[in-house]
Amino acid sequence: MPDFCYNWRMSSIRTRIPLIASALAAAAIAAFLIWAFSLESTAGLYEWHPPWRRNFLLIGGAGLLPALLALGGLALRSRAPGGKGLAGKSLSAASLGFSAIALALAGGLFGYIVSSTAAPRDPIPALSLIDPAAGIEGREGVVRLSLSSDPHWGREESDAEARSAILRGVASASPRRDAFIILGDNVETGTDAGPWREEAADLSLLGDVPLRSLLGNHDGVIGGQAHFLRYFFPNGVDTDSGSPFYYSMKAGPARIIVLDLLWGAESFSRAQAAWLERTLSSLPAGAQAIVLSHCFFYASGYVDEHGYGYYDHPGTIAKVAPILERHKVALVVSGHNHDMELLRHGGVTYAVVGAMGGLLDDHITYRSPASLWLAQGVHGRLDLDISEAGIVMAFKDRDGKTLREELVAKAR
Ligand SMILES: [Fe+2]
Repeated sequence: MPDFCYNWRMSSIRTRIPLIASALAAAAIAAFLIWAFSLESTAGLYEWHPPWRRNFLLIGGAGLLPALLALGGLALRSRAPGGKGLAGKSLSAASLGFSAIALALAGGLFGYIVSSTAAPRDPIPALSLIDPAAGIEGREGVVRLSLSSDPHWGREESDAEARSAILRGVASASPRRDAFIILGDNVETGTDAGPWREEAADLSLLGDVPLRSLLGNHDGVIGGQAHFLRYFFPNGVDTDSGSPFYYSMKAGPARIIVLDLLWGAESFSRAQAAWLERTLSSLPAGAQAIVLSHCFFYASGYVDEHGYGYYDHPGTIAKVAPILERHKVALVVSGHNHDMELLRHGGVTYAVVGAMGGLLDDHITYRSPASLWLAQGVHGRLDLDISEAGIVMAFKDRDGKTLREELVAKAR
C-alpha cells in the first residue's frame, strides 16, 4: 500500500475513535438505564423523588455528552486545514475522557447493585411462610388475619421496640391468628442486605404464625426485589398470576388479592390490570374480595419536602379504584402512609395501617373526605376476622389494645 494511502487510512481511523468510544459509552449507559427501569420501584422513584430523577437524568446526560463532543470534534477537524485544528482535537480528547467516565459509571453502578443484591454466603434465616397456592386456613369457619405495614428495618429512626411488641402480640393473641401479613416497606433501602437479614431474625418473634409480605416502594429500591424474593419466595414463585408481586390466595370464605402498587399506579401494568379483572370476574358468588397493596388509594396525609401530596392518591384512584368498585371489593388494606386510618368510598372500605415501626407521620395537613377514623402517632396492627357473616376489623395499638372496630358487611 502506498504511504499516502496508509497515512490517510490511519488518520481516518484515529479521527473516528472518539466517535466509536462515545457510541459504546452511550450504549452502556442506555443498557444500564433500561435494566434499572425494568426493576420494580424504579419508575416510581423517578416519578416521586426529584433528587433521584435528577440522578437518572445526570446518568443519561453522561451517556450523551461524549457523543456530542465527538461529533463537535469531528465537525471542527473536518473544517480545519489537514484535519488538525486544535479545538477539534481538544473536543475529541474530551470525548474520549468522558466516554471512559461514562463506561466506568455504567459498569460501576451495575456492579454495585448486582453485588449488593447477590445471594449472601451465609445461609439466610428460614421463615414460616404462607404458600399463596395453598392459601390461608382458618378454624371453625373463621380466618383470623393480622396485618401491618412499613416496619422499615434499617432506618435509625424506626421504633424497633414497637415492631417487636407488635410481632409478640400477634404470636400470643387468643384466639390464635392464622396469618400475619406485612404490606411492604419491610426495609428502608432494598439494595442493602443487612436489614433484610435483621428482619428475618426478628420475625422469629411470630412463633408459629405463618407469614407473607408484600414488596413496598422502599423494598424495591434499587434491585431490592432480589432480596425480597430470596426471603419470601425461597422455593420459587407458584402463584396464580405467575408473579411474586401480584397474586391471589384463598382465605376461608374470602379471596385475598395482592396488588403490586408501590409508589402509585406506575407498577399497575396492563398484564396486572387484565389479571385483576379476570380474577375478580371469576370469584364465586358470595366470596368476599379483600385487596392488599403497599400504596394506598384514599388516605389523609401531608405534602412532602418536594411538594408531593401523600394523600387521596390520584394514580391508584383513577386507574385501579374503579375496577375494585365495579367488582364490589369489600375491603382494601394498604400501607405507605405511616399511620392508621379507616375510610369508605364508592361502597369499598379502605384501611391504612402503615404503623409497624416506621417513623410515624405526625404532620398530616389534609383530611380525606372519605375518612371515618384516623389515628396518628400510634404504632399497631389491624386484625381481620373473616367469616360468612362478613369481616370484623379491629385496629389495635402495639400492646393489643383495640382502638377502633368496624364490621364490613358482605358486599357481593
Ligand atoms: Fe414506608
